[in-house]
Amino acid sequence: MPADLSPIDKAKFAAAQRSVGFVEEGMRVGLGTGSTAAFMVRALAERVRNEGLRITGVPTSTRTADLARELGITVATLDEAGWLDLTIDGTDEFDGDLNLIKGGGGAHLQEKIVATASDRMIVIADPAKKVAQLGAFPLPVEVIRFGWQTTKALVEELLVSLDVLGQSATLRMNKAEPYVTDEGNHILDLHLQRIGNPRQLALVLNQVPGVVENGLFIDICDLVIVGHGDGRVDLHDIARGQVAGERVAFAESENVFADLDD
Ligand code: A5P
Repeated sequence: MPADLSPIDKAKFAAAQRSVGFVEEGMRVGLGTGSTAAFMVRALAERVRNEGLRITGVPTSTRTADLARELGITVATLDEAGWLDLTIDGTDEFDGDLNLIKGGGGAHLQEKIVATASDRMIVIADPAKKVAQLGAFPLPVEVIRFGWQTTKALVEELLVSLDVLGQSATLRMNKAEPYVTDEGNHILDLHLQRIGNPRQLALVLNQVPGVVENGLFIDICDLVIVGHGDGRVDLHDIARGQVAGERVAFAESENVFADLDD
C-alpha cells in the first residue's frame, strides 16, 4: 500500500477489502458509488483478475459503470441481471439501527433501487460515518426538474410539522449550474441537523409530488463494515445485533490504488 494514502483512505480501503470477501463465484453484485465504493470496485477487480472469479456487477451510476468496465468487471444493467445476491456500497451516515443517509454523490436513486433488489446490502464506511442520530449530513432528495421550486417549497412546508431540527432545503449546484443526476433530475439537500424519526420522514418525503426519491435507507442495510487506518475492521451485523472485530491484511497491490480519481 502506498504510504501517502491518508488514514481515512486506508480505513476506506480496509472496509472495501473485507467486503469483497463476501462475494462468491457466480454472484450478481450491486456496485455502489462514491470514494469508498470505488476502493471496493478495485478490490473486486483484483479478485476477478487474480482468482478468475466470475461475477456480474450491476453499477449504480455511470461513474461506477465506467470504472468497473475499465477494470475488467463484467457489467450488466439491473434489468438484465434481475434479482441480485449482494450490493456493496458506501454511505454518508449510518446509525445504530443501520439506517443510512446516502446520496452525497448524487446516486442514491439508483443505489436504493439496486440495494432493494438484493438479498443483502453490505455498507462500507470509515469511522466518521457512524452517528448516534441521523441528520448532520444534509439529506439528499432527488426531484424532477419541472417545478422544482414548488417542490422545494412543499418539502420545506412539510418539514415544519416533522421531528427535525432544521427545515431549509438548498438546490445542489455543479459550479454555476444546478446538479443533474444520471436520471436527469435535480437534488435538494435538506439541512435537518437531527432526524428524530427517519422512517416517517422517508415515507412522507416521497409523498410530495415532484420528489423522486430521498436518501434515507431504512431497513435496507444488513451489515456495516467500518474500516480503520491500521487495517482493523468492525462488522456491525443487524441480524446478530453484534459488532465483531477483525483485521485485514493490506495487500501490496499497486493496482488497487492506481489512478484513484473517485
Ligand atoms: C453516492 O450517491 C453516495 O450515496 C455515496 O455512496 C456516499 O455518499 C458515500 O460516499 P463516499 O464513500 O465518497 O463517502
